[in-house]
Amino acid sequence: MKVLVTYYTQTGNTEKIARAIYDGLTVDKTILPAAEVKNQNGYDLVFCGFPVQAHSVPAKMAELIKGLPKGQKVAFFATHGSLRGGQLPRQAFESAEGLAIGLRIMGQFGCRGKVDPKVIDALMKKPDHKVWAEEARGADGNPDAADLKEAAEFAQAMVGKAY
Ligand SMILES: Cc1cc2nc3c(=O)[nH]c(=O)nc-3n(C[C@H](O)[C@H](O)[C@H](O)COP(=O)(O)O)c2cc1C
Repeated sequence: MKVLVTYYTQTGNTEKIARAIYDGLTVDKTILPAAEVKNQNGYDLVFCGFPVQAHSVPAKMAELIKGLPKGQKVAFFATHGSLRGGQLPRQAFESAEGLAIGLRIMGQFGCRGKVDPKVIDALMKKPDHKVWAEEARGADGNPDAADLKEAAEFAQAMVGKAY
């Protein structure tokens, strides 16, 4: 089985999860930032990772997902400031599914990721965003060791499903 782990990251959280997924794999594997993926063909499974941004998938990862060959097996992973299972990450995974027309989605994994303090400070000043900013502050220690372990388990589960 040939597996690609690709990701987009701004502050490194999603890259940490990508590495944990990669390290958890015991197959023929490659890890690349989305911008460095030159050929998306020939993989049995592609893990696509992104930070949730404005409850959606950042354009750089959206483009990659849209360019995957028809029938490609994919697994999504994301980091986000919101609590796990929250509305914003759920919407982002729904967006990813919407981009994956003709692809075979094996599963998804999300965990919290520390939000840039500058973003938190700016949002704290906006009445509409203050509540979210307070929630997002709680992601300060993530991803943590438990997140990385779960990501590695997710990696193996997805490979098992893709066989
Ligand atoms: C511009 C911007 C928008 C964001 N929007 C959301 C959001 O809608 N929901 C959420 O849970 N987190 C949001 N976040 C937090 C990031 O998803 C989170 O910090 C993530 O772990 C960053 O990953 P990275 O280090 O790989 O870039 C946002 C962060 C930024 C900078």
